[in-house]
Amino acid sequence: MMTGLSVEQLNRWNDNGYLIIPNALSPSTIDSLLNETRQMLSSFPIQDHPMTKFSTGESSSHIGDDYFLQSGDKVRYFFEEDAFSKSGELAKPKERAINKIGHYIHELNPYFREATFSQLHRDIAQAFGFIDPRVLQSMVICKQPEIGGAVPPHQDSTFLYTDPPSAVGFWIALEDATAENGCLSFANGSHRRTPVESRFVRKPEGGTSFESVAGSSWPQNLQIEKPKEEESYELGEVQAGTLVLIHGNLLHKSERNLSQKRRLIYTFHVIEGDNQHQYDQRNWLQPPKSGFSRLYN
Ligand code: FE2
Repeated sequence: MMTGLSVEQLNRWNDNGYLIIPNALSPSTIDSLLNETRQMLSSFPIQDHPMTKFSTGESSSHIGDDYFLQSGDKVRYFFEEDAFSKSGELAKPKERAINKIGHYIHELNPYFREATFSQLHRDIAQAFGFIDPRVLQSMVICKQPEIGGAVPPHQDSTFLYTDPPSAVGFWIALEDATAENGCLSFANGSHRRTPVESRFVRKPEGGTSFESVAGSSWPQNLQIEKPKEEESYELGEVQAGTLVLIHGNLLHKSERNLSQKRRLIYTFHVIEGDNQHQYDQRNWLQPPKSGFSRLYN
């Protein structure tokens, strides 16, 4: 018996490519995740961060690439682009300078682990038809006051490509997300009109790039429609505790946060791990030795 989603919710998911579930996480869970985030932001050793070291002779973007590419089984910290002054100095205290923390929080932090591998999330994956769902990455995205960066329109399967595509984002508001502080917006139904045409890969010589998808651009069992000349976006304003599910082919984006209100969220992604889906060996994110984490126990 599937209890994760109602028929009505599943219909909305299929039509829209995203689904907003208010009050999915309890206030006490949200509190504990906020508390853990506070601890992480205040305790990480900023002097170890590559972006705070400027040595001559080595390109800082390349150091940044390695720091990013090796973060799949670690908890690492990534700055807001606008956290630095023109001369390259950090212009904010570190707690207000970090854009995101990733990408293995779902394994390395016990509170986030518990919140990720929950019965609700298992039930939802089951309702979506996942056979062997794997949690492959997680992030706390801070979207800081005054300097919170925008995220241009994209499809998550570009970054987490399987052949055929299978990624689903689980996105949890830890604080209220509104138009003022840069909430998500969605091109309703665009998952059925927009093939995954590029994927984010490691370059053999180091660093990353986007490449054309050679495999399938569409998930299995998706009702495909003609593309629109232009997609329009609708705001997804949500309160803390809301779970938003995002189809890997859906176009979505968010604006900058110039307000005084932080917009803190936790997100993790799931892909299909059965033998009908191939994880791309050139993807920027590669599995740890133990493989990507099973969502079902
Ligand atoms: Fe996304």
